Amino acid sequence: MCRAIVWLASVCLLICPSLSCYDCFIDVEESLRLCWGHVLTNTNVRNMDECFRKLDRIFNTNQTVIEAGRVGEGFDIKLKEILEAEILPIVEEFDQNLNMDTVYERRLQTAADNFIAAASKLPRVSGCFPPCGFQNAGAVYNCITCQYDSCEFPLDCPVEEIEVMENHKAQMWCDVAFDLPSDIEVIWRFAEEIKTQEMDQFIEVTAGVDRLYSIPSTSLQHQGTYQCEIYSGSRSIVRIYFYITVTPQLVAGHTELQEIFDLSLLPGGQLLTAPGAAPRSFLPLLLVLLTTCLTTSLLLLFLTLGVLYWSSSEEDHNEGDADDDDHFEFEMS
Ligand SMILES: *[C@@H]1O[C@H](CO)[C@@H](O)[C@H](O)[C@H]1NC(C)=O
Repeated sequence: MCRAIVWLASVCLLICPSLSCYDCFIDVEESLRLCWGHVLTNTNVRNMDECFRKLDRIFNTNQTVIEAGRVGEGFDIKLKEILEAEILPIVEEFDQNLNMDTVYERRLQTAADNFIAAASKLPRVSGCFPPCGFQNAGAVYNCITCQYDSCEFPLDCPVEEIEVMENHKAQMWCDVAFDLPSDIEVIWRFAEEIKTQEMDQFIEVTAGVDRLYSIPSTSLQHQGTYQCEIYSGSRSIVRIYFYITVTPQLVAGHTELQEIFDLSLLPGGQLLTAPGAAPRSFLPLLLVLLTTCLTTSLLLLFLTLGVLYWSSSEEDHNEGDADDDDHFEFEMS
C-alpha cells in the first residue's frame, strides 16, 4: 500500500511538468511523510492528494515564491537551507500524526512567507548584457527548471564595420560590456579580403593577453575580417568581429578631382557667381589646378627645347670624337 503511494506520488512528480522551489529542494519521501496525516475538515477523512495540491498552490505555482528563488550563482544551496529549515521541522512534528487541513494551510503558508522573506535577501545578479557572449555572472537560479538560466546569447557578436584610409592607423578593441574572468587568453584571427564569421576562413595572427590590435599603417592587404576570441581556461567566452575596408589614397585623390570637375560643370557657369559655400571653397583649388597645368606645360616645352638643343650639340661633339679616335689609331700604328 505504502509502496503504491510512493510510486504514484513519484509518477505525478515526474509527469507534472513545472517544478518549483519546493520540488527542487525537498525530497519526495519528506513530502509523503509531511502529507501522511492530512485530514479534510468537512469529511474528517485522511487525504494526501489534497495535501499535495495545497503544496502546489502555496509553493509550486506561486509567482512570488518563484521570483524569490531567482538568486545569483551558487546561492541555490542557501535556498535549500532556508526551505529545509522551514519544512523539515513540520515534517518531524506531523510524522505519523493526524492534523486538520486548516492547520496544514496555516503552517505551510507561514513557511512560504518566511522562505520568500529570507530568499529575497540573497544576492541577485546585475543581469545579462546583449547581444553576445557567454555570461557566467548573468546566470540566475530558476525554480521551474531547478537549474541556472544562462543568458543564452550566441558566442558570435555582430560584425562591426571600420573604414580606414590607406597608410592610416587602424585600432580594434576586443571589449565586452560584461565582466570577464581574470585568467583570459585572447586570440586574434584574420580572414583576408572577405567579410565572414565562418571559423574555417580565419588564420591565427596572435595569441596572448592583448585585447588591443593595432595596425600602424594600413595597406590594401589589411582589408578583411578580424576576429578576436576570448577564452577562459579552455572555454570560449566571446567572439568579436571587425570588418576593415581600406580606401586607397589614389582613389581618394581621384574622387576629389572628380568633385571639382563635376562642380565646374554646373549649369550657367554658376561656379563663380553661386552664393553656395561649396563652389567658393573650390575656387582656390581650381586656381591651383590651372596654375599647375600651365607650369607643367611650360616645363614640358622647355624640356623639349632643351632635349632638342642637347641632341644637336651631341651630334657635333660625336663628329669631333670620331676625329680624335682616328688620330689615336694613327699614332698607335
Ligand atoms: C503567493 O504567495 C504570497 C506569500 O505567501 C501570497 O501573499 C500571495 O497571495 C500568493 N499568490 C498567489 C497568486 O497565490
